[in-house]
Amino acid sequence: MSTAITGFTPAVASEQELFQLERKYCSWGDTVHYLEPPKFFERAEGHYLYDREGTPYLDLQMWYSAASFGYGNWRLNEALKNQVDKLPQLACQYLHAEKVELAAAIGRLNASKFGMKGRVHFNVGGAQAIEDSLKIVRNSTGKSLVFAFMGGYHGRTLGASAITSSYRYRRRFGHFSDRAHFVPFPYCFRCPYGKERETCELYCVDQFAKNFETEYNSFWDPKTGESEFAAFYAEPIQATGGYVIPPVGYFPALKKVLDERNILLVDDEIQMGFYRAGKFWAIENFDVEPDIIVFGKALTNGLNPLSGLWAREELISPEVFPPGSTHSTFSANPLGTAVALEVLRMMEEEDYEEITRSKGAYFLVQLRELQHRYPKVIGDTDGIGLALRIEICQEDGYAPDRELTNRMFAEGMKGDLNARGRKIGLVLDVGGYYKNVFTLAPCFDMTEDEIDVAVELFEQLIRRCAPERI
Ligand SMILES: Cc1ncc(COP(=O)(O)O)c(C=O)c1O
Repeated sequence: MSTAITGFTPAVASEQELFQLERKYCSWGDTVHYLEPPKFFERAEGHYLYDREGTPYLDLQMWYSAASFGYGNWRLNEALKNQVDKLPQLACQYLHAEKVELAAAIGRLNASKFGMKGRVHFNVGGAQAIEDSLKIVRNSTGKSLVFAFMGGYHGRTLGASAITSSYRYRRRFGHFSDRAHFVPFPYCFRCPYGKERETCELYCVDQFAKNFETEYNSFWDPKTGESEFAAFYAEPIQATGGYVIPPVGYFPALKKVLDERNILLVDDEIQMGFYRAGKFWAIENFDVEPDIIVFGKALTNGLNPLSGLWAREELISPEVFPPGSTHSTFSANPLGTAVALEVLRMMEEEDYEEITRSKGAYFLVQLRELQHRYPKVIGDTDGIGLALRIEICQEDGYAPDRELTNRMFAEGMKGDLNARGRKIGLVLDVGGYYKNVFTLAPCFDMTEDEIDVAVELFEQLIRRCAPERI
């Protein structure tokens, strides 16, 4: 008698049947449900997603900034296919060339950028790489407490949740004894101290520095000259927080305080790295040298996932951080390393600093113009490279309008906007402290003409969703 399992692989189902199956069999805990019901997509190419009817949706978020070179990029697909035929799987105790070459490429690049020796360590997802960085911090300092920013996001494993500001991500999961101490981010449009960027003289950094003035502020032991805190985790530009860009001079001033107190700077580049913000690492925009850099997402353009970190030699050399300090079956998987190497080759062949900066500047001029024409809808626009923000506000141009943001997001997903006669949808991502910011991470390949179309589509959303404010 056959022992084969039946009813295991269903025949192709209709969208309605799939919804029913999803309701019954899929955990909702591993995702977010912004739309009810969530949207199915069937195909992706370039910067378009296609639904089951074949309607294109222009994507301005590119898988939360992972697929910067476009979906189904032929060159990266080829790299993946070649590796599938050559060395698709390998237990990570053995070496393969692509892993070593990739680590060397990032190590050499950072040596040239920051003048420091270091090593590269791999894992699979962003949060896992954050976990690994926490081990490096703990191992090298002997301390487990860290600073992180309010509005920061570092992932949803237990360790990453402990240094992510939202209590919402921790509430159900018990006590987090190593929860970070959260410090206000310099979000100048909504300055947490009610100051103005032009006149504040970085009041926020002074406030942070004051924590160390006396032992009674709880961070510093003047007798031993030691802080209880080991590191400061920072996104150079807050991503989930709403693509918030810190003011000039902020990071150097903060780093001075950290250096005085012997506190490491851990730079989370998971969303902003690899030219999203106009430089290979976003932190390069801000004139500081981090001790550890954590990366993921766009390293493989969102193909076979790979994440990792670079750390200064003193923190990560095998003498201090020995074999087995972390391990994951799929870390440094050969499909991921092969694609990542090809991504780096692509970044070497063209001037992506110039490409992302000039396209981003072109996009931002148009967004500012849109803000000028719709001041009762858009309160703030900003951007650096191809990381752009549009903050949706109420009629006063300041109070966050989450409800309108949601309506505009949902309207884009209906797939019935008009792109110069073509029926189309618009895929946006919503972020921000008040969930009222469209965080745009467009594909690097978008032409100026396509950027014009994107802005036209966005304007259609405003006109449809807020007709009384135009
Ligand atoms: C800045 C930052 N850090 C960490 C993460 C977590 O990465 P992952 O979702 O791959 O675990 C993200 C994901 O969006 C992120 O944007």
